[in-house]
Amino acid sequence: MAKLTVRDLNTHAQRVFLRVDYNVPLEEKDGQMVITDDTRIVETLPTLRLLIEQGGKLILTAHLGRPKGKREASMSLRPVAGRLADLLHCNVNFVDDCIGEKVERVVAEMQPGTVVLLENLRFYPGEEENDPAFAEKLARVADVYVDDAFGAAHRAHASTEGVPRIVARRGGRCAAGLLMERELKFLGDELEKPARPFVVILGGAKVSDKIKVIDRLLDKADSILIGGAMAYTFRLAQGFKTGKSLVESDKTDIAKAALAKAKARKVEFLLPVDDVIANPVKTGKLDKKGKPIIEWQNPRPNTDSNCPDDAAGLDAGPATVKAYSAVIAKAKTILWNGPMGLFEDKRFAEGTNAIARAVAEATEKNGAKSIIGGGDSVKALNKAKLGQKVTFMSTGGGASLEFLEGATLPGVAALQDK
Ligand code: 3PG
Ligand code: MG
Repeated sequence: MAKLTVRDLNTHAQRVFLRVDYNVPLEEKDGQMVITDDTRIVETLPTLRLLIEQGGKLILTAHLGRPKGKREASMSLRPVAGRLADLLHCNVNFVDDCIGEKVERVVAEMQPGTVVLLENLRFYPGEEENDPAFAEKLARVADVYVDDAFGAAHRAHASTEGVPRIVARRGGRCAAGLLMERELKFLGDELEKPARPFVVILGGAKVSDKIKVIDRLLDKADSILIGGAMAYTFRLAQGFKTGKSLVESDKTDIAKAALAKAKARKVEFLLPVDDVIANPVKTGKLDKKGKPIIEWQNPRPNTDSNCPDDAAGLDAGPATVKAYSAVIAKAKTILWNGPMGLFEDKRFAEGTNAIARAVAEATEKNGAKSIIGGGDSVKALNKAKLGQKVTFMSTGGGASLEFLEGATLPGVAALQDK
């Protein structure tokens, strides 16, 4: 059933607790945290403008990063308040806490149509624990609850699940924002009865991350095109050598089951026929997340279905790109989730970029509806400057994947039906 949206509300002079996903990438520059991609902020502007027009008192809440229940200066939302004010052309009052007396005092003084942004919800452990007492504290400033944080809707946290439950219990309304509504439309309704051919492109590192999506889409798609490291688990399942490629050797059974289901359902299921390979060399260094940094040496094309023992596959090759592009060119609906290779390294980005171009072209020339399921594929499209050429790009990473799997997202379930 369709969810209540901000369009169904009149929030004049009401305190609107507006949960947004402002979990944006930040980089330190000259001792200051700078936003490197403000898409998630920009995408909430229509909701904000509508509520400002209604004369609501907007209390924006969000998380940033994973500070694990403690104050962490590098994860403050303060820089977001500045960017939001620039984008909205209005004052955004930042409060350096999300609960307590200070918040309540500022909110009590708010005029209709004004905006306040509260500090990172995850500075308190109660947010992720969905602690009822913490949710009560947040809800003290909520007459109406609006959720525009699709990207966090897979989390049953205090701000996404606890607060709306309290607001509803008091007889208040809990509605979707316009971004949330769009996400549910494109990732949900539009894929229910897609115009055909419906072509699904799935990439990324692991079969285990995508298997539920593959399984569900095997019931709907006409073609599924597989890329990224997960293709090597399929190759292994087919009896090929995968060298040092990233494989999940304990997941070949699920790969085989997917291949069998595709055959039974007559879904065209394509795997790469060539690739770009390179030799991994350990550097002994660790990245920011503490993972060993590997240097890739001697990148070269490989047309053999087997990967040499000393090499790993890192991108789709030209024959694969050609075959996939031909399928994409005929599509009327395209869903893409996950890159074709290690696109962050430009030596292994061509497969992903070529697929991005094919998707953009099918949208432009063929009128295909192209829906990009968030995360790395969105990053890749933006990097290739093709983000404006597709029909819809999700702002959710994990959330879009779980939604495509058919899961009920707690943040969506908490909203009232029309
Ligand atoms: C995201 O960036 O995926 C969302 O903001 C959710 O963040 P999380 O994965 O830290 O819960
Ligand atoms: Mg995530």
